[in-house]
Amino acid sequence: MIETAKNLLLQGQPVAIPTETVYGLAAPIDNEQAIKKIFSLKKRPFFDPLIVHVSNMEQAKACVKHWPALADVLAKKFWPGPLTLVLDKNEKISDLITSGLSRVGLRQPQHPLALELIKQVGVPLAAPSANKFGKTSPTTADHVRQEFKAEDVFVLDGGPCQVGIESTVLLIKNTNQISILRQGFITASDIEAALKSQAQVFEWIQTTSKNEAPGHLQHHYMPAVPLLFCHKQVEPSQLQDWFRQNQSQIPSSVEGVQLIRPHSFDNAKELVLADDSALAARQLYSEMRRLAESKADFLYFIKKPQHLHESWAAILDRLTKAASLHYR
Ligand code: TXA
Ligand code: MG
Repeated sequence: MIETAKNLLLQGQPVAIPTETVYGLAAPIDNEQAIKKIFSLKKRPFFDPLIVHVSNMEQAKACVKHWPALADVLAKKFWPGPLTLVLDKNEKISDLITSGLSRVGLRQPQHPLALELIKQVGVPLAAPSANKFGKTSPTTADHVRQEFKAEDVFVLDGGPCQVGIESTVLLIKNTNQISILRQGFITASDIEAALKSQAQVFEWIQTTSKNEAPGHLQHHYMPAVPLLFCHKQVEPSQLQDWFRQNQSQIPSSVEGVQLIRPHSFDNAKELVLADDSALAARQLYSEMRRLAESKADFLYFIKKPQHLHESWAAILDRLTKAASLHYR
């Protein structure tokens, strides 16, 4: 399997790879044609940069202008693992990968097959999640096979993803300023604790500019049927009426991402997740896919008091963006 994946990559063909977060659609960073194929297969706009996956820390250092002390501490603590560090890139990283931005996102994934493949290919692999743009990320090899034709994308099957949601993306700028660009399994508190334990000086900053956070779209991760996010408890029967009356508020597309309207309101299904946030993260995308395929007309998720805990922030972020409508 690894041999096939390696040969295809060396021939310039993108390959789907398992990681601990979600499956990625990978190509070597030194092959522009293969990187372009990733964008066209995903129907992804060129303004959204790709994360570069390395097999060790030295490979990451070779992609950046400087390797800040904060990056060193965080990589030693959390790599291999679900943390992407956004740092000043050097000439090894093409503008295609970073969408013309001066920084690159780097991470060492924690999956033996991914690490072995990167090692064998000998160069880092650029890889976004292996789904069509705006849609639910894949957490099993079958999810990827449903997303792309077999002749277009070979899938290196590494079993179900253990984390289940995408990595935390952390920007490090001006030596000691940090900002979370995308929430993930590793929380702000985890990052703070790691930096404080090594007596690092740092400052949290806000980032709103598209140059720093190009991936900030209102809608993302969307299942094949509409998802209604309920911010308070509600009866399903009440919800059907409410959705019927309010569905006209759903625009056909936002920032280039198409939103789906329900065909009917007869069959609503609740997206129920485990109380434990780590388990819930692992279930999230699989459940969204399973329910969407189960003839549901629309899905709804009800936010509960326990979801206010920090460990739920990344899951709620995904659900908020996956939702077509919010019941408040
Ligand atoms: O867990 C993950 O991160 C997965 C696995 C495959 O590694 N990858 C993933 O990639 O989720 P993707 O392309 O679906 O999301 C990457 C996110 C986007 O929001 C993108 O805007 C941001 O990371 N990103 C990547 N490079 C960046 C850069 N140079 N500056 C700012 N944000 C960046
Ligand atoms: Mg993605």
